Amino acid sequence: MREIPGPPPQADGGLSAVTAAGGLHTYQLRLHDEYGPVVRFQLPGARAAVSVADPVLLEATAKVNERPGKLFEFLAPLCEAGNLQTLPAAEHVPLRRALLSVLAGRRSHEAHFAAFTALTGELADRWADRAAAGPVELQHDLSELSLRMICQYALGRGIDDPARVVSAFETVLTGYLGRLYEHGLYAHGDDLSRAEQALAHLREVVDGVLAAGGSDLVDALVRADMSPARVRDTVLMIMLAAHHTTGVAVSWTLHLLARHPEAAARAVAELDDVLGERAAPEYADLKRLPYLEMALKESMRLYPPGPYGARETTEDLTLGDYRIPAGTTIFYPFWAVHLNPRYWPDPHAFRPGRFTAEEQAGRPRYAFIPFGLGPRSCEGAGLAMVEAELVLAVLLKRFRFEPVAGHPVVPVERFVLWAADDIRMRLTDRRTDRPPDGRRSRRPGDRGRDGG
Ligand code: HEM
Repeated sequence: MREIPGPPPQADGGLSAVTAAGGLHTYQLRLHDEYGPVVRFQLPGARAAVSVADPVLLEATAKVNERPGKLFEFLAPLCEAGNLQTLPAAEHVPLRRALLSVLAGRRSHEAHFAAFTALTGELADRWADRAAAGPVELQHDLSELSLRMICQYALGRGIDDPARVVSAFETVLTGYLGRLYEHGLYAHGDDLSRAEQALAHLREVVDGVLAAGGSDLVDALVRADMSPARVRDTVLMIMLAAHHTTGVAVSWTLHLLARHPEAAARAVAELDDVLGERAAPEYADLKRLPYLEMALKESMRLYPPGPYGARETTEDLTLGDYRIPAGTTIFYPFWAVHLNPRYWPDPHAFRPGRFTAEEQAGRPRYAFIPFGLGPRSCEGAGLAMVEAELVLAVLLKRFRFEPVAGHPVVPVERFVLWAADDIRMRLTDRRTDRPPDGRRSRRPGDRGRDGG
């Protein structure tokens, strides 16, 4: 067995090295560049931390079913009965089964598709109305759309005032978690009392759904004998897990397509072909949009919305030439795995064609893991793909996207891999080939810089 390589220990427990690198995700990229696919490093709160960027070595970790509790403590104020992400395996297994019975089912995706389409159409109309005033901010608006969708999905018919739920959830996030990346952990004073009230409102709404029924998700949790407190926690964690992730996945895809005209032209040609004059796909159309799906996957490879995952080993593991002792925090550095040049030649290039069935068959199973792996992987993966493809289809069918010149798009970690100052785009209505204020922009057939 070889000793796991890594940087020399620092007196501050590794904090300054992470900060100097601009966050854990960029630190892990650097460590793997320098030390290879298995690296040990210091991290405050972890007794020993190891990051693994080789998809074949990851297989040996795929059964680990615990997460390091300490790294998730910041979410504790949102949970009454324990955070689902760090529940012990014995409690997590039945909860996961209940979640997957709904979230992973095609029937459930299809049942919510019309409502998702309506919400996306509303955003497209809002964009068309206001785009004359200037560029739109993709992440902001698309995260809000994902939040509306997940509220609709998780709470179903049981809510009278969805706008209030969406705004309460945003207040909770800002109050309890927003300052995590600024100064100190939690808000104080007014912010906190507003957040407490908003959290109480959300819990009441879930209780209303519990009492009256009307949501497949809540009904599945009740059938699995979850306590009311656990149902409330789970709905909140689902809302948290679902909204920025899906919103940034769509934003990064639009960003990359706008910078790759030939890929954008192909995605739009496919949409025109499948949809004809229709503004939105039906559920069954999604499988007829393979290029769009490949572009989404390639975007999640280059910008994985959740940049890393974590596990805690409960017994010794062997990873190739290395032994990982029990009690180690293992990191899944999704970004470094997705940029591993051994499996992704020219790793920074945007090439949706990497995701044809033939190309995928030549790669190890865990070379592409935007939703994680094993018994703690994302239960919402199937639903997220449906939502993201639908939103992309509607927006690319309706608008051309042109990046705002000179506006920097810099990825940073803020719960998700986020563009620091959003992603700004000017829109042109493809139906009229005019910007929404009526100015003529391009001649028909002229695909312009953004490829149409
Ligand atoms: C593009 C969108 C999304 C991405 C990229 C994403 C990614 C992830 C990742 C990387 C994890 C951690 C996996 C691991 O540790 O192995 C995770 C966990 C989770 N995600 Fe997602 N997610 C997305 C959307 C969603 C949606 C729509 C839902 C729910 C409707 C959801 C629910 C969850 C839950 C509940 C967990 C915790 C899993 C557990 O501990 O059992 N996610 N997600």
